[in-house]
Amino acid sequence: MPQLSTRHLLGINTLTVNDIQLILETATQFKEVINRPIKKVPSLRDITIANVFFENSTRTRLSFELAEKRLSADVVNFSASGSSVKKGETLLDTVNNILAMKVDMIVMRHSSPGAPHYLASRIPANVINAGDGTHEHPTQALLDSFSMREKLGDLAGKRIAIIGDITHSRVALSNIYCLQKQGADVMVCGPTTLIPKHMASLGVRIGHDVREALAWCDVANVLRIQLERQQIKYFPSLREYSLYYGISRQMLDELDRPIVLMHPGPINRGVELTSDAADSPHSIILDQVENGVAVRMAVLYLLAQER
Ligand code: NCD
Repeated sequence: MPQLSTRHLLGINTLTVNDIQLILETATQFKEVINRPIKKVPSLRDITIANVFFENSTRTRLSFELAEKRLSADVVNFSASGSSVKKGETLLDTVNNILAMKVDMIVMRHSSPGAPHYLASRIPANVINAGDGTHEHPTQALLDSFSMREKLGDLAGKRIAIIGDITHSRVALSNIYCLQKQGADVMVCGPTTLIPKHMASLGVRIGHDVREALAWCDVANVLRIQLERQQIKYFPSLREYSLYYGISRQMLDELDRPIVLMHPGPINRGVELTSDAADSPHSIILDQVENGVAVRMAVLYLLAQER
């Protein structure tokens, strides 16, 4: 049976091309499972998983929990608010206490880049990064690629524009790694202040004109302005941002050719996307959410073989 090259999922950067292929192929089988009348398989019956969330989440947390339950794992949920973290406990102590209760895998979201890497080198459980600050969000990139492949087939040579707040987005960095490993041509587009200088060294195209980006790409993956991570003003106002970078249905319709519109959520309607764009036939935003469960099932299932 094919296996992953790793026992943790910390980022896309450290996955091989074969790992990505294996996860996406396995997800296809799990997508079939979750569309059956009985959406459950016994694969992880003997595994206990803790979802440890130090940052807010709706989709990612529910998606992991459903994926775990569809695989018949035992699940416990921990969120930092209302926990002993507020009493001064360290991350490692918190997690070691959870592990003492015989937990096998940790799914963690944390505001500090590198927090899951720190844990992975210190605990015996498999660690899955569900978003570490502005760094990586590997399962989001995998579900994005899975969703793109459903629409476009093999991504080699396909043109993907990632539009919005690249500086503060872990979705952007994980997508860049994931798409480049599959041979796609990637552009990042946004105001100069929201595109970090190191982007040039990653070999992506850099654009500042959203209409040019839309005219160029097969897929527009649109990101939220991460106001909660911005300590200074990167642009004058949200109104001005949406005037220059907001995408409307009319802009998509006028292209007169197919374009796939994506967004990891949560959408700020009226800022990066108008409602008529988000709800248009170009959009596969809810397909992304459906596919997230199948992709996370694949990740959990494959990592459980590496124990
Ligand atoms: C993203 C995240 O948390 O990084 N959302 C998600 O996981 N679906 C993007 C965001 O918060 O804008």
